[in-house]
Amino acid sequence: MASHMQNDSSSASAGFQPVFKSFATDAIHVGSEPEQWNSMAVVPPISLSTTFKQHGPGKHAGFEYSRSGNPTRNCLEKAVAALDGAQYCLALASGLAATLTITHLFKAGDGILCMNDVYGGTNRYFRKIAAEVGLDVSFADLTKLEELKAALKPNTKMVWIETPTNPTMKVVDIQGCSDIVHEHNKDTIVVVDNTFMSAYFQRPLALGADICMYSATKYMNGHSDVVMGLMSLSREDLYERLKFLQNALGAVPSPFDCYMCNRGLKTLHLRMKQHFKNGLAAAQFLEADPRVDRVIFPGLPSHPQHELTKRQCTGCPGMITFYIKGKLEHASTFLSNLKLFALAESLGGYESLAEHPAIMTHASVPENERKKLGISDTLIRLSVGLEDEEDIIADLDQALGAAHPKK
Ligand SMILES: Cc1ncc(COP(=O)(O)O)c(C=O)c1O
Repeated sequence: MASHMQNDSSSASAGFQPVFKSFATDAIHVGSEPEQWNSMAVVPPISLSTTFKQHGPGKHAGFEYSRSGNPTRNCLEKAVAALDGAQYCLALASGLAATLTITHLFKAGDGILCMNDVYGGTNRYFRKIAAEVGLDVSFADLTKLEELKAALKPNTKMVWIETPTNPTMKVVDIQGCSDIVHEHNKDTIVVVDNTFMSAYFQRPLALGADICMYSATKYMNGHSDVVMGLMSLSREDLYERLKFLQNALGAVPSPFDCYMCNRGLKTLHLRMKQHFKNGLAAAQFLEADPRVDRVIFPGLPSHPQHELTKRQCTGCPGMITFYIKGKLEHASTFLSNLKLFALAESLGGYESLAEHPAIMTHASVPENERKKLGISDTLIRLSVGLEDEEDIIADLDQALGAAHPKK
């Protein structure tokens, strides 16, 4: 067991890596030290001021203007850096703002290699915007290390990994990919979109990645009331360039959202444990159900990369993808009949959500690509929330019953 890990006694996490040492303590205390405020406030105040008084020209107390730095944002960034085992963190206005800020490290002609199965908006950004301004964007199945090796080019400056992927839950070997990429060129950066796992279940920087990014809109904030992006890293040179871009591009979050996200982090460890427990129970129920064709949940032994997941993660979030038996009409009937699950995009909140990736979150992925990736008409994505396990399963059961009525 690595020195930064400790055992977790819950049965769902048996066989997974031990949880990160002092995770809950750091989530609650790092960045929230009362001594940093004259008032000794235990809960960090929301600093709404856009500007800060200077003692003399250029002589300030650490803050000048809220786009370049804000006390409430600082509290959040310090907490996230600690949770990711990183030196630094930068908060952005959305997950996609983090993606585009990172991509601004590069210029026309530079190569970006992206996992072929990623969040639809990431795919759209790389294909329709980054490629249009001259970046050399390509996609490959990075679950196959041979495919990664073959796809790396002399101009590859960034490899973008999402694991597990959205929505087909493929798991990418972060350490394996990072070793290959850095052997190819030590300056090529590996970015891991850690949105699904959150800092509680996966630490990409400890597995060789250079940047760990999040749509904090999901589990990190966890309450479906903030849109935000985060990136953690330990390389100082990279941090300086990204900090410059955070200010120069200006896609920063509001102090109120920073406060909310930091508040969400205080219970991340408790939420993720329960998401895992409820997710596993729902996945087991669906896998045993004859109205379901196939369930994809990395926490189930049937997942093709279950062993890899256990090797690189401390557990799994409440994300389940499954294929309902039948056709589009069965998927639609199931989704329209859910009562406790809301039919809505997004994921990672305390409430259960369900969606149809082909029509909703991944409609921007070209149809032939969707087909190749397995994003079919019968594919359904669930974000299992924190409600009572038996109510979650009862809702899935009754909606499956509506899609496949007994004759
Ligand atoms: C895995 C993943 N990455 C990035 C994003 C984009 O984040 P945001 O919606 O906060 O811009 C999302 C959004 O759904 C996502 O699911």
